[in-house]
Amino acid sequence: MIRYRTTTAALASALFVVLGGTTACVATNDAATPAAQAQPVQVESATIIPRPQSMQPAAGTFLVAAGTTVRAQGEAAARVAAQFTGLLGRTTPLALATDAGKAEDGIVFRLTPAGAGASPEAYALDISPTGIVVEAASEHGLFNGAMSLWQLLAGQQAAAVSLPAMRIEDAPRFAWRGLMLDSARHFWSVEQIKVLLDAMATQKLNTFHWHLTDDQGWRIEIKRYPKLTEVGGCRVPQGDAGRKADGTPNLYCGHYTQEQIRDVVAYAAARHITIVPEIDVPGHAQAAVAAYPEHGVVDGPTEPSHNWGVNPYLFNPREETLQFLEGVLAEVIDLFPGPYVHIGGDEAVKYQWQASPAVQAHIRALGLKDEEALQSHMLKRLEKFLEEHDRKLIGWDEIIEGGLPPQATVMSWRGIEGGIEAATHGHDVVMAPGNTLYLDFLQTNLPDEPPGRPKFTSMQKIYAFDPVPGQLQPEQRRHVIGVQANMWTEHTRTWERLQHNLFPRMAALAEIAWTPLQRKDYDDFLKRLPAQLQRYRALDIAYGQTALSVAMQRHDDRAGNRVDVELSNPLGYGDIRYTTDGSAPTARSPAYAAPLALQVPTYLEAAVFFDGKPLADKASRWTLDAASLLTRNDKTLAQCPQGGRLLLRLEDDNPTDGPRENFDVTIFNPCWLWEGAQLQDVASIQVRAGRIPYNFGLLREEEAKRGFRKAVAAHGEFEVRDGCEGPVLASVPLPEAADADGFITLDAPLHSGANATANLCMTFSGDTRPTMWVLKQVALRTGD
Ligand code: ACM
Repeated sequence: MIRYRTTTAALASALFVVLGGTTACVATNDAATPAAQAQPVQVESATIIPRPQSMQPAAGTFLVAAGTTVRAQGEAAARVAAQFTGLLGRTTPLALATDAGKAEDGIVFRLTPAGAGASPEAYALDISPTGIVVEAASEHGLFNGAMSLWQLLAGQQAAAVSLPAMRIEDAPRFAWRGLMLDSARHFWSVEQIKVLLDAMATQKLNTFHWHLTDDQGWRIEIKRYPKLTEVGGCRVPQGDAGRKADGTPNLYCGHYTQEQIRDVVAYAAARHITIVPEIDVPGHAQAAVAAYPEHGVVDGPTEPSHNWGVNPYLFNPREETLQFLEGVLAEVIDLFPGPYVHIGGDEAVKYQWQASPAVQAHIRALGLKDEEALQSHMLKRLEKFLEEHDRKLIGWDEIIEGGLPPQATVMSWRGIEGGIEAATHGHDVVMAPGNTLYLDFLQTNLPDEPPGRPKFTSMQKIYAFDPVPGQLQPEQRRHVIGVQANMWTEHTRTWERLQHNLFPRMAALAEIAWTPLQRKDYDDFLKRLPAQLQRYRALDIAYGQTALSVAMQRHDDRAGNRVDVELSNPLGYGDIRYTTDGSAPTARSPAYAAPLALQVPTYLEAAVFFDGKPLADKASRWTLDAASLLTRNDKTLAQCPQGGRLLLRLEDDNPTDGPRENFDVTIFNPCWLWEGAQLQDVASIQVRAGRIPYNFGLLREEEAKRGFRKAVAAHGEFEVRDGCEGPVLASVPLPEAADADGFITLDAPLHSGANATANLCMTFSGDTRPTMWVLKQVALRTGD
């Protein structure tokens, strides 16, 4: 297989070049030469994602190879043809030349009159033995057709591709096919955002919701109010990450200049992607309030937050602040030509408004019922401003509380209920439920998922989601204008992890957003996914590997020196091959069919195969020896029943550079459980623990649910019980601080009289905020 890779920057600049003119001849690339001499690759079936509305097979094939011409009729078609050849040239070994002639052979792009009632994004793609014709009534439709054809070719990575004859007629199910990126919690460069936009365009996602302001950072230059980025654009991270070696603050900064934003907007527009900027009002405002305290509610300075979660800082609802916000929106409108501005409205806890005599007097003066009504009053005023400037307001579903602004569109994130309510009252809705479409949730239960929320948002879960709730009446259903996945980045610090979280799950998002419900088919999707992975590689995207690899569940028998091992693939691919002799699994290795009973020590390697090829870049490997029967870690332990919600996979705060550990911990009540631990011959329980910042903003009622066991020793103790309400089995005092590497290793002697099998419930006593101890590994130590 040829892997033809480009750098991100090269891809972005190449696309710029071809968009500059109406036609372009793309230089032949050298990497194509060896493949050009090879046999053409036969495409057996269309692997397009999202799956088109209709595909009719026909007789014969058409060969696309060097020498195939690309022709366009009209200026708009020429622009699309140039984008197509440019993208193909940079991402595959196929270097095709555009030609303004009229002949019908080769690949032709042309605009046709619109059919009555047709979607403005519809297209037809006709592959016949004499040529390929891409037709649409609009440039956007033509672009969608070009992306389908690019997919067929880029899924192969060959210099000659034989496509089966077929006719595709295609149009989207939803007009809003969105992805949200949080640039506030962690900052993403313009080049990185362009890579995401390229990937979105190739999968027909057309709406990029850009979360530009939050408690932890204000990321958009506003020329009237320079301190928003000067002050609000930098925060001091909590813990060790916030201090340089010399003790000075290690600031985390970033913002987009207006020039950069115009560049991104133009880049998106060329790919038929509309950007929806978000300015969060009245909550998630701490960075703005730090910059302009007079527009906050509390006296005195603050700084951009280093706490994740719900922070209490609100904008002031008075007239001067509304004018300030209108000043911000005036510049936002000037930068973003799209019809919508997202005004936030989420998670605005009203503590500061409740405590402020001035705000309470304002509520009375306005004759309003309460703080919710005040929020609604503010948002209605901002909606009026947006409407006067020919823009529409969209907000998170909390904007329903206190009364929706009259024309508002609702983005339903706390489930689908807000969306149902808004659609029932005639408001447009975008479905983005957090429990299904938040991509900061991990995609598998594998230990090597990066930090995030470890409740799983698997590919299957996304794929199964239907944005139109069954309980809506037919006339209400048309208000569901689309669907969106959201990528919050509190726990996503690096570009590598951002790609891991977005891809390949973006493929399932694209299909639920575009494909008609009756054409959705998960098994068929799995067959098309390997070609999509090839396309991600072609776009230089380092997609996540975990869902493509093998998950292992083990059941230990210490006495028998044995493990029973269950293997599975998180996506549901069935062809798992394994070895136990240290060799790499191949398509001819033993097939996994039923749990394996393995005698320790052993070494197990497994991989998933599709069509005879491995899905993941590397096989999964496990060493199962006597020591492994005696250890568990934060990923292989269960959470205790009293742990409650808010399980997180949190990253360590050091070292400043280089890899950091992460920890699974329920932050309300950190506690880890080893069910059925076999304690025969065990003399002590050894724990390795780290210490990380406790940096969460929680609602007061949630904060009240936090629980620590009471400390006895000066700095608390590590305690092991048999069952969380049971007797203490082992206990060891904690030191005041961690060792130089940020960890401690302690041995807790096992009290006599412990049962041979116990449910080890493990906690650190004492409230150590603003830090907390977190378990990394626990080992049963035998007396010998
Ligand atoms: C949200 O997740 N706070 C919209």
